[in-house]
Amino acid sequence: MCQYSSEDGFASDWHLVHLGSRAVGGAAVVFTEAAAVEARGRISPQDLGIYKDEHIEMLARIARFVKGQGAIPATQIAHAGRKASVRRPWEQPAGAIKPEDGGWIPVGPTTAPFAPNFAVPSALDEAEIGNIVQSFATATQRALQCGFEIVELHLAHGYLAHEFYSPLSNTRSGRYGGSLDGRLRFPLEIAEAVRNVWPERFPLFARISSTDWVEGGWDVTQSVELAKRLHERGVDLIDCSSGGNVADAQIPMAPLYQVPFAERIRREAKVPTGAVGLITTPEEGERILSRGQADLIVMAREFLRDPYFPMYAADALDVAIPWPKQYERARIARAAKRISA
Ligand SMILES: Cc1cc2nc3c(=O)[nH]c(=O)nc-3n(C[C@H](O)[C@H](O)[C@H](O)COP(=O)(O)O)c2cc1C
Repeated sequence: MCQYSSEDGFASDWHLVHLGSRAVGGAAVVFTEAAAVEARGRISPQDLGIYKDEHIEMLARIARFVKGQGAIPATQIAHAGRKASVRRPWEQPAGAIKPEDGGWIPVGPTTAPFAPNFAVPSALDEAEIGNIVQSFATATQRALQCGFEIVELHLAHGYLAHEFYSPLSNTRSGRYGGSLDGRLRFPLEIAEAVRNVWPERFPLFARISSTDWVEGGWDVTQSVELAKRLHERGVDLIDCSSGGNVADAQIPMAPLYQVPFAERIRREAKVPTGAVGLITTPEEGERILSRGQADLIVMAREFLRDPYFPMYAADALDVAIPWPKQYERARIARAAKRISA
């Protein structure tokens, strides 16, 4: 989850403690927030980046610590497209930062902005698209040097790849627009370029928005097709999120509301999926897995509330997971409390 706490893309002590705590807490996999593959692909000027070799040192330190705790260190690589160059969520006024105030001109499939308070992007030409595909591959090589063992492509939430595959934001003509084949070309080229440099022994995930939640927009049927084609290109798991491309879309958020996407894409595209979104209890996670609705549970905000969620979940589901030795004495106290209750 974006921490908006970097300078020029560099991870800091904040990231080490933030991600390290989740590894100590027993998460199976710890993903960094979206790491931008180029500077103008950051959402805010304070986003994490993986666009310079100098970024590797601190990210490697984090990956090493996470692995040392028994978790799998993973990173998500991203380009924010036309939603770039905005203030952090806690800063006012919300929306675009002008180039003269430290922002930049973002890029997109066309010059249509995301919303009135966002910048007018520059429309990418084919050579620029090729350069961004290459940036994803270079970022992946850096991820390998950092010691990450899973890379996730961020193809969701109205960021650049999603802007290309949704018919609402991609009104281009030519090779990268128009038909479904044209709109899928950019995300599929990213997947191919990344898989070419990411070793077979490490999984490659892709997060997609399964629907725009708007009539006539991107939908689950098209997502099934995208999932199939990503899988053919070596993507191992589709992380099924939704929304983010239409500012005023009406999203019926409720516990587990995105799980049906993971279930349908898993069944129809025959690819492993991850379920995400308002999954907050051990029982919910367990049920999704045991019913075969998804292969992996992805949790975000619950882990901000409680970095030790897996320890609690294991207890609640009566399974043993290792605790850090340093914390073992607290575990005995908890077990005693349960027996006496
Ligand atoms: C503060 C914050 C930062 C986020 N950053 C990212 C991100 O970097 N990449 C991403 O794919 N999703 C990001 N998300 C979305 C979450 O990964 C997740 O999909 C969403 O919060 C729903 O899951 P949850 O109900 O478990 O929080 C972020 C969400 C929050 C609240």
